[in-house]
Amino acid sequence: MNYKDYIRVIPDFPQPGISFKDITTLLQDGEVYRRVIQDLAERFKDLHIDCIAGPEARGFVIGAPLAVALGVGFVPIRKSGKLPGETIEADYALEYGKDKLAMHKDAIKPGQKVLIADDLLATGGTIATSINLVKQLGGEVVGAAFLIELLELNGKEKLGGIDIFSLVQYN
Ligand code: PRP
Repeated sequence: MNYKDYIRVIPDFPQPGISFKDITTLLQDGEVYRRVIQDLAERFKDLHIDCIAGPEARGFVIGAPLAVALGVGFVPIRKSGKLPGETIEADYALEYGKDKLAMHKDAIKPGQKVLIADDLLATGGTIATSINLVKQLGGEVVGAAFLIELLELNGKEKLGGIDIFSLVQYN
């Protein structure tokens, strides 16, 4: 199955020059969505991870069902001010804009093996910050799973030596 057939590309959104990869058209198709999650689960099932962490909002759409498929828990990485318990926070820069990401301090136990999941790897800023937060909590990030990777932005270079996999790539 060619997942690109189900991803809608919208030019100049949210600002001129950005070619937005809209996954809502893929998510609408239950069978295609199920296969995306199944393919990612198959790719990472042998890493024996303890949990999946994913950044809001689109990281939840991939990370939470992937956690269910792998039989592990899901940890949300949220924008600042959304989590009710004690948090740690880190600044990050996006392909367009910047923000702060936060995690609950007790979300990861020291030594746990964590897989990060998101819909899209662009500059890598979101995932580099997510890795930083998980490491601060004592977790070991063993891999990162994406539906889409934008190759020309070289996001992988920011992520060190972890196991990175994406189902679909764009130049
Ligand atoms: C998008 C996307 C990734 C991130 C990728 O999220 O879902 O999380 O940007 O960009 P990067 O590799 O350059 O960091 P966004 O911050 O737009 O939030 P959303 O999921 O809430 O729409």
